[in-house]
Amino acid sequence: MTSPSEAFSGGTAVITGAAAGIGAGLARHAALVLGMRVVIADIDEQALEQTCAELTEDGGKATTALVDVREAAAVEGLADRVAEEFGPVRLLVNNAGLEQFGYLWDTPVANWERLVAVNINGVFHGIRAFLPRMLRQSDPAWVLNLSSVGAVTAVPMQAPYIMSKHAVLALTECLHQEVALAGAAHIHVGAVLPGAVVSRIFDTAGGVEGGDLRAAEEAREAMFRVRERAIGADEAAETILRQAAEKEFYIVTQPETVFGVMRERAAQLTVRSAPALPRGSRFTADAGR
Ligand SMILES: NC(=O)c1ccc[n+]([C@@H]2O[C@H](COP(=O)([O-])OP(=O)(O)OC[C@H]3O[C@@H](n4cnc5c(N)ncnc54)[C@H](O)[C@@H]3O)[C@@H](O)[C@H]2O)c1
Repeated sequence: MTSPSEAFSGGTAVITGAAAGIGAGLARHAALVLGMRVVIADIDEQALEQTCAELTEDGGKATTALVDVREAAAVEGLADRVAEEFGPVRLLVNNAGLEQFGYLWDTPVANWERLVAVNINGVFHGIRAFLPRMLRQSDPAWVLNLSSVGAVTAVPMQAPYIMSKHAVLALTECLHQEVALAGAAHIHVGAVLPGAVVSRIFDTAGGVEGGDLRAAEEAREAMFRVRERAIGADEAAETILRQAAEKEFYIVTQPETVFGVMRERAAQLTVRSAPALPRGSRFTADAGR
C-alpha cells in the first residue's frame, strides 16, 4: 500500500477553490505535511493571499493563481503556467464549488447558471486543461474531483447543488473508464464524496429573491446545524489524501455515514421506490428530531 508521502512528496499540487474550506485544508496538508509545492487557485483574491501567506510562513511552498474556473481559457492559462514554472502536475484537485438553497421553481436563473458554471463546467475545464499533459507525462498523477455524499441521494431545497454533485460523480466515473481505455495506468482518477466538513459554503450559498424566502433560509439554517457536527478541513484533507494514495476511487471523509447513504440509495433503486423526504423534514413523522 502506498503511503501519502510516497505518493505525493516533492510533487506539484494544483487545487481550485483552495482559498477556503476543504481546498485550503488540502493545500495545508499537501504543503506542510506531505512537502508538495501547492498552486492554490481561487476567485477570491484576498482569501487567496491570506491562505498563501499562512502556508509560506509555516515553511510551505505555495503559489497563488487568481483563476475563475468558469472560464475555460483561464484554466488553460493556469495549466500552461504551472507546466512552465513547475513541470508535471502530480495532483490536480477540481474542488471549487457553490451551494444553493430554496425551492427549484424559486431559484433565480442567474444562481442556477452560476452554480452549473462553477460546479460542473469548472470540473470539465480542469480536466480539459490538465489531462492532455498528464497523459503525455510518465510520472504518476492523481485527478480528484469534489463530488459529495449528496451525489448518491436526493435532498430537497438543494436541487441545483445535488444535481451538480451527481453530475460530477458521473463525469468522474466516465473519466476513470476513459483513462483506463487510453491505457494511462500512471493516472489515478478519484471521486471525493465528503460528508459535512467545516467551511463557508453555506454562508456564501445562493438563496431566492422571490417565492418562498422563508423555506430557503430554513434550509440554510438546517445546514448550519449539520455543520455543528462537521469534521474539520484538516482532518478531511488527511483522509482524502490517504485514500487517494491508496488509489481508492470513492474517496469518503466519513465512511460510516457515506457508505450508509450509498447502501440506502442502492436499496431504493433495487426496489424502485420514489425518493422519500429525509428524516427530520417538516412533513415527515419524525419532524423536528
Ligand atoms: N463543506 C462540506 O460539507 C462539503 C461536503 C461535500 C462536498 N463539498 C464540496 O467541497 C468543495 C469545496 O467546498 P467547501 O465546503 O470547502 O466550500 P468553501 O465555500 O469554503 O470554499 C470554496 C472555495 O471555492 C472558491 N470558488 C468559488 N467560485 C469559484 C470560481 N468560479 N473559481 C475559482 N474558485 C471559486 C471560493 O472562493 C472558495 O474559496 C465543493 O465542491 C463542495 O461542493 C463540501
